[in-house]
Amino acid sequence: LGTHFKGEGVGGATTMELYEQLTAQGDKVRSLKTAKADKADVDAAIQLLLKLKVDYKEVTGQDYKAGCPPSGTAVSNDRQSENGGEEDTVDPWNVATNSAKGVDYDKLIVRFGSSKIDQELVDRIEKVSGQKPHRFLRRGIFFSHRDMNQVLDAYEKQKSFYLYTGRGPSSQAMHVGHLIPFVFTKWLQDVFDIPLVIQLTDDEKYLWKDLSLEDCHRFAEENAKDIIACGFDVNKTFIFSDLDYMGSSPEFYRNVVKVQKHVTFNQVKGIFGFSDSDCIGKISFPAIQAAPAFSSSFPQIFKGRKDVQCLIPCAIDQDPYFRMTRDVAPRIGYPKPALLHSTFFPALQGAQTKMSASDANSSIFLTDTPKQIKNKVNKHAFSGGKDTIEEHREQGGNPDIDVAFMYLTFFMEDDEQLEKIRQDYTSGILLTGELKKMLIETLQPMITAHQENRKNVTDEMVKQFMTPRPLNFNF
Ligand code: TRP
Repeated sequence: LGTHFKGEGVGGATTMELYEQLTAQGDKVRSLKTAKADKADVDAAIQLLLKLKVDYKEVTGQDYKAGCPPSGTAVSNDRQSENGGEEDTVDPWNVATNSAKGVDYDKLIVRFGSSKIDQELVDRIEKVSGQKPHRFLRRGIFFSHRDMNQVLDAYEKQKSFYLYTGRGPSSQAMHVGHLIPFVFTKWLQDVFDIPLVIQLTDDEKYLWKDLSLEDCHRFAEENAKDIIACGFDVNKTFIFSDLDYMGSSPEFYRNVVKVQKHVTFNQVKGIFGFSDSDCIGKISFPAIQAAPAFSSSFPQIFKGRKDVQCLIPCAIDQDPYFRMTRDVAPRIGYPKPALLHSTFFPALQGAQTKMSASDANSSIFLTDTPKQIKNKVNKHAFSGGKDTIEEHREQGGNPDIDVAFMYLTFFMEDDEQLEKIRQDYTSGILLTGELKKMLIETLQPMITAHQENRKNVTDEMVKQFMTPRPLNFNF
């Protein structure tokens, strides 16, 4: 607990113990309400909750805020103290923080050595593309980049580039968070009118998970349907399974080998944390995720050109792969790929971790029915609201830790409407139940539309997207 203040509190309890007691009591009140328990029981639980809050304020001088543990200084907005001074965990396999607001992305930019997508860059993307920036850019959901200005400089001089993104097909079940990079990539493809390659790493999932090769390959094709349903143009998009494309493309494999020769075991140990007992497939896999960042891996699209620059939109946890790729690129005679990084899509339970398909309760799946969506949001979405209506009206809710509000920032298009919701929630005019209802009404039609689109994706179409072929561009 690092820097947490551990002073003596009421009855000898430390502030941290008091905080934990309070959090548990809040949970208890909520579950009693959900279970529609006896009114007397609910009231008694609320009474205790309110008493604990008074105690808490007496001891800490601060109002209790769910998800924000007590800090040493009386008034502190410093994230360092909020998450106990511990570093957030962000790598391709784990995302975790102690802060209910989620990962501290500004700190991550410093740690990873990337650059912030500031207003100036957003304005520039608008100017160069001639389009209103996507809401993910307007709202800082794509928040970090590498070399985006270089891509725009070249584009202004009529030099094209291409997009590369991917997905690890670990199951049939995709959730709404998985769509974020694809929704954004589709927008980039539309506004810049450029080729796109999408890597499905069925090999990676076989190496990392307890799955058969055939299952991973099947999941790749199933996931391709969800990706295609995002609206990609078949004339501008190549989707490939590593298991299929690696074996059929000499140029791709040559690039894999080039990368393999230029990265040592020590380097991948440092970047990915591999150990001596990891299978050698894992140790060499990063070269396979690097290869699509080089245009010569796709001679059918780029006619053998090796100098077309690549732009990779991805969640920030994939950055280690591309730090390695950028390190190797000049040594094997290729341009470094540029990157656009997104934040994580929070789990229903709170932004301490990202949505994960392996935890059904943390996720809204693309196959969920309107009723399932409603139930999950109502039951599991972590609320930044107060425990009682009276308190909420008086003190207002905290949108920064409220999962329903966070999801609306991803999916609600109208900036003014979203800002009004933020203000009304903060002031207490808008109640948690009302906020959740808005989210439910945003998600339901969105997911139903996705399901319709997916139904219209035939096996024939999947085959078309996944066949190596020239695209509608002249290189
Ligand atoms: N490793 C990624 C995953 O497990 C899949 C992936 C491959 C990817 N290439 C990519 C993601 C490029 C983003 C960009 O999800």
